[in-house]
Amino acid sequence: MVATMEKHIFTVTKNAALAPNVYEMQLEGPGCAARVPGQFVNIALDGLYLRRPISVCNYDGRTLTLLYKVVGQGTRQMAALGPGRTLELLTQLGNGFSLDVPGRHMLLVGGGIGTAPLYWLARELKARGREVSVVLGFNTAAEIFYTEAFRPHSDRVLVATMDGTAGTRGFVTDAISRQGLSFDYFYACGPTPMLRAVSQALSQPGQLSLEARMGCGFGICMGCSLPMADGTSKRVCKEGPVFRKEELAW
Ligand SMILES: Cc1cc2nc3c(=O)[nH]c(=O)nc-3n(C[C@H](O)[C@H](O)[C@H](O)COP(=O)(O)OP(=O)(O)OC[C@H]3O[C@@H](n4cnc5c(N)ncnc54)[C@H](O)[C@@H]3O)c2cc1C
Ligand code: FES
Repeated sequence: MVATMEKHIFTVTKNAALAPNVYEMQLEGPGCAARVPGQFVNIALDGLYLRRPISVCNYDGRTLTLLYKVVGQGTRQMAALGPGRTLELLTQLGNGFSLDVPGRHMLLVGGGIGTAPLYWLARELKARGREVSVVLGFNTAAEIFYTEAFRPHSDRVLVATMDGTAGTRGFVTDAISRQGLSFDYFYACGPTPMLRAVSQALSQPGQLSLEARMGCGFGICMGCSLPMADGTSKRVCKEGPVFRKEELAW
């Protein structure tokens, strides 16, 4: 799909903590934030040369929802923004998830903050009559967020925690195998080791949303290029961040 990057000023309408260091920010602004689930926005922040890429968690044509984890200077600055503050966003970046895939039963696998882009995806898949199973992985029960938000848009939501304080103890792949989930197609977003494990453990076809350190965020600097299975390299910001399983060189 061809994305058309736009630049817009969005106004923060809500910015609240969901879990330790994890925030949900809602914004409104002119123009389109994203066309399909899996796209991202690139946020300009005071005093920082590089914008910060954040996935679109949800967009209904008016309200843009972002989920972000505070890990450094930029996300710390975001966490301090109250309603009424404005942010300059580059919007509609990246390719997004393809919803036009075979099969009836879709499995969505998220790890930590990688849960974010799967929410709008679940909403769209469910609206198209697909059966949707969601498996979310966290370190511990206190870090869980958004499981309740997924319930209206999915048939089941399973949780895995590394310390076993909620759901299945272990990795998302442990929850998938122990629950004996059968599905036709998967979508995944999370830390690279989780994506590698999911890709290797699941025999079904799927799409994975990757992260890379970004310079420009719209295809010019080549800073986010990754080697692909066919020997070529692709830009996470432009040809990605979503790739088909078979494209990736693990
Ligand atoms: C396509 C894409 C979608 C993303 N979606 C989300 C999301 O929905 N929620 C969320 O919390 N985070 C998301 N990230 C990661 C997020 O961009 C970084 O956590 C954030 O840029 C860190 O900025 P900082 O200033 O707080 O941290 P710092 O560590 O101070 O950042 C220093 C530099 O490294 C870059 N950087 C740091 N961590 C990452 C990372 N993991 N990936 C890419 N660049 C990084 C920053 O952009 C900045 O240029 C996404 C990354 C990409 C590439
Ligand atoms: S970040 Fe510049 S090409 Fe991807």
